Amino acid sequence: MPASRRYSRRDFVQFMGRASLGAGLATFWNPFVSAKDRERTPQLSMPSLGIHTEDSLKFTEGFSHEIFIRYGDVINSQGDRFGYNNDFIGMIPLNAAKTDALLWINHEYPIPLFVSGYEKGKIKTKAQVLLEQKSVGGSILRVKLNSQSTWEWQRDDLYNRRIDALTEMPLIADRPIAGFRKAIGTLSNCSGGVTPWNTFLTCEENSHDYYGDIDAAGSSHFGWEAHFDNPPEHYGWVVEIDPKKASAKKLCALGRFGHESATTILAPDGRCVVYSGDDASDQCLYKFIAAHPGSLERGELFVADLLNGKWLSLDIKKNKKLKNRFKDQTEALIHTREAAELVGGTKLNRPEDIDQDPITKDIFVAITGNASKGDKFGSLLRIKEKDSDPRSLEFTAKEFLLGGTKLGFACPDNLAFDKSGNLWMTSDIGGSSINKGDFKSFGNNSLFFIPLKGTQAGKIIKVASGPIEAELTGPCFSFDGKALFLSVQHPGERSPNLEALTSHWPDRGKSLPTPAVLQIRVPTSAYA
Ligand code: FEO
Ligand code: CA
Ligand code: CA
Ligand code: CA
Repeated sequence: MPASRRYSRRDFVQFMGRASLGAGLATFWNPFVSAKDRERTPQLSMPSLGIHTEDSLKFTEGFSHEIFIRYGDVINSQGDRFGYNNDFIGMIPLNAAKTDALLWINHEYPIPLFVSGYEKGKIKTKAQVLLEQKSVGGSILRVKLNSQSTWEWQRDDLYNRRIDALTEMPLIADRPIAGFRKAIGTLSNCSGGVTPWNTFLTCEENSHDYYGDIDAAGSSHFGWEAHFDNPPEHYGWVVEIDPKKASAKKLCALGRFGHESATTILAPDGRCVVYSGDDASDQCLYKFIAAHPGSLERGELFVADLLNGKWLSLDIKKNKKLKNRFKDQTEALIHTREAAELVGGTKLNRPEDIDQDPITKDIFVAITGNASKGDKFGSLLRIKEKDSDPRSLEFTAKEFLLGGTKLGFACPDNLAFDKSGNLWMTSDIGGSSINKGDFKSFGNNSLFFIPLKGTQAGKIIKVASGPIEAELTGPCFSFDGKALFLSVQHPGERSPNLEALTSHWPDRGKSLPTPAVLQIRVPTSAYA
């Protein structure tokens, strides 16, 4: 097994030869915060996994795991089933001891072959679309910590509910959108967030794949528009879920684009700031500053100008170009990408998940890469808001880590900090590239542990590696940090038909590949 890789200043300098951000980011800082910023505590030490290409889930020493819940599990007496392609996981406590809680788990997209039985080249029936509509959105689950310190989901609990592409929910906007104040369903639910008032945010990412997009020609990837005329403008938003009421609302003030994530930070005045990446080539990074504490219904949306270190307002009253182009603020929000380009937002190589270092308050952004721009392996970007205040409209941005063979990771996607301030990261090498050509040395998509302090600081340790064609997504620590929930998404996604399955995870033999959520026990010395 290879030793874990260490990063060095050279890994940053190399970034300057790359095309992901352009010029203007000429200085570098040490990746390790100083000893006075971050107390030095004993760290988890473990070997890094090597190249793993098998159809199995592999962990490095010291970790144990089990399947927590999987696609198709019946979650309540109404017969609702756990949805497909689990992604983001959020957790809120229900009691003071934090032994009773609710989970929200996103279901990003269906794989028609496994969800509706649809095979490419055939005509998709309305019944097949209905099955696919029921498979996306998210699940609310009641979970409790048992006497063996293991979390269990409670079967048939009253809180257990599904929200899917058929659930009606209001569009929170200044006026009707495409003639309606309500939308039917949420879909393409990728990453998300948890608000300070214990609701969940679920992000609609590749929403054009279902009912097409405004003015788009041809049929969409899933072709639902053949049977349902839902307006495309009703998708591509951040949706707030109140898990106790199983209600949902679309927060249009946060803009409409390929929202990967919605990472919340509480400002000193009690208002919430939400960071969101637009995961598409040449799209931007955004933040939203709420107008009032305890609500995200109103506020101001900004796009990042990384070359000048400024957050640029997308309020049409503050920018003549926006005022001239859009008839009202809602229209600008429906066309957020166009508004961002008009004001000069910096185009990035697919900004995905975002998380905040709990110790330094820096904001980390996963840039997954864009091969057409010469950025095959992606990077991590680190943003320092002026005065560490999330409401600041000025910041500095520097590259933190570069993907590539030297450091042993490529295409970063999800990020999570543990309670000690160490970074955990998952990778998402696309199905057409994985284990081929330049991506051969990375193996299957993986979970990495990146200690930022202590004796292990500077290492990049591959902790887990997924089965064939899967992606590990949605890492979520339990309140005490001892359990890590992790999604195994889209195993065997490139199977051409049921006779030629590329994965049989987790049941092996001739079984269908099945997305599932894992509960992982993290060695407690990580938090010594
Ligand atoms: Fe759904 Fe950008 O990953
Ligand atoms: Ca993702
Ligand atoms: Ca991704
Ligand atoms: Ca994915």
